[in-house]
Amino acid sequence: MLKILSVVGARPNFMKIAPLIRAIEKHNHENVIRIQHVLVHTGQHYDVRMSEAFFKALNIPNPDINLEIGSGSHAEQIGYTMVAFEKVLLEQKPDWVIVVGDVNATLSCSVVAKKLNIKLCHIEAGLRSGDMTMPEEINRLVTDRLSDLLLTPDTLSSDNLRKEGTPEEKIYFVGNIMIDTLEANREKAGHLQLETIINENLVAGCTNPKRSLVDYSYAIITLHRPSNVDPEKVFIPLIDFLLNEVTKDQLLIWPIHPRAKKQLIKLRLWNSLITNPSFILLEPVGYHEMVRLNMGAKMMLTDSGGLQEECCVLGTPCLTLRLNTERPITLRENGGTSVLVGNNVQRIRKEYLHTLTLDRLPYRPDLWDGHTAERIVEKLIETDKRLNSNL
Ligand code: UD1
Repeated sequence: MLKILSVVGARPNFMKIAPLIRAIEKHNHENVIRIQHVLVHTGQHYDVRMSEAFFKALNIPNPDINLEIGSGSHAEQIGYTMVAFEKVLLEQKPDWVIVVGDVNATLSCSVVAKKLNIKLCHIEAGLRSGDMTMPEEINRLVTDRLSDLLLTPDTLSSDNLRKEGTPEEKIYFVGNIMIDTLEANREKAGHLQLETIINENLVAGCTNPKRSLVDYSYAIITLHRPSNVDPEKVFIPLIDFLLNEVTKDQLLIWPIHPRAKKQLIKLRLWNSLITNPSFILLEPVGYHEMVRLNMGAKMMLTDSGGLQEECCVLGTPCLTLRLNTERPITLRENGGTSVLVGNNVQRIRKEYLHTLTLDRLPYRPDLWDGHTAERIVEKLIETDKRLNSNL
């Protein structure tokens, strides 16, 4: 029996863990040697719309343990998670801890696992933005340095690890697990009606759109990174551009992250957004709803990592509102649909106007085939055997 404990903490983790759980169940169904799986939620995201809704939509079983860490500064989130997670590991004694992505839960639980000499596997290893002001970059670097098995989504990420001196036997290219979730759910998402999504998720007080909402008649924006949302000199011109230019051309749908909502209210911009008939402000939407919106969008403007990847496979032209990306495989120069536009409005405008002329063009990088989780389970069992035989 192999005992695995996997960790989730924030919204982008949930779509990465769902396929893994499914692949473990499949393994247990087909094999005599079973995998025991324990799911820990650190509780970094706790709103129903940021967390529980994803468990339900993606059929993720309730976490076995919830550390209920909640919001706080980075040191608070990481520190509280470490203290609570150490107790869990001392009690559960798993053979492996599996962490996904690059959120604070990923870093905290990696450190605790290695301090207790428990084998560590990182899914989505090797991504690098090169930007040390990005909290996630620190999380990625620490997690990868500590991991015993580094499972990469693309060969560029495997190369990053090699350049850093990671031993070859620790690196394995498995593909993108988030695309497993996309492939398993896109048909269901495709059946959703745009109007129903809007009606069910419109923020209180927001004017219903005057123009009719049909496929390819709208753009979507998502913004949540501190570097875009927190500095007023970045955020205010960006909002002006959206209000005065983008909504003149097309409807603009914004499923709003709590951080951006707080800032809009603080800067007294909230009212001009909710009363603009071309601005459709939504509460954070569910997984299928977001995939459906993405499938019919003329373009995406985003600072999210996962959306860059989903746009790539779905074919949505994407303006990545960042100066760098840890996911260069999604860029147009590498075959993808995204272009880095940073947060300077002049640069954004230029690419926005060009992107208005583009058609949707799907691109599927190698091994983004919907079967990554199965490869992960196989590789984990094989690595466990190898490491045990070396003892
Ligand atoms: C986190 C991840 C980021 C990921 C993002 C997706 C880190 C370092 N960052 O950033 O990589 O892309 O999640 O959303 O781990 N809040 C709520 N309800 C919630 C959760 C948060 O209202 O359920 C509010 C809190 O006031 C909090 C703010 O949102 O201060 C930001 O939340 P936090 O978890 O600190 O980071 P994210 O910006 O969500």
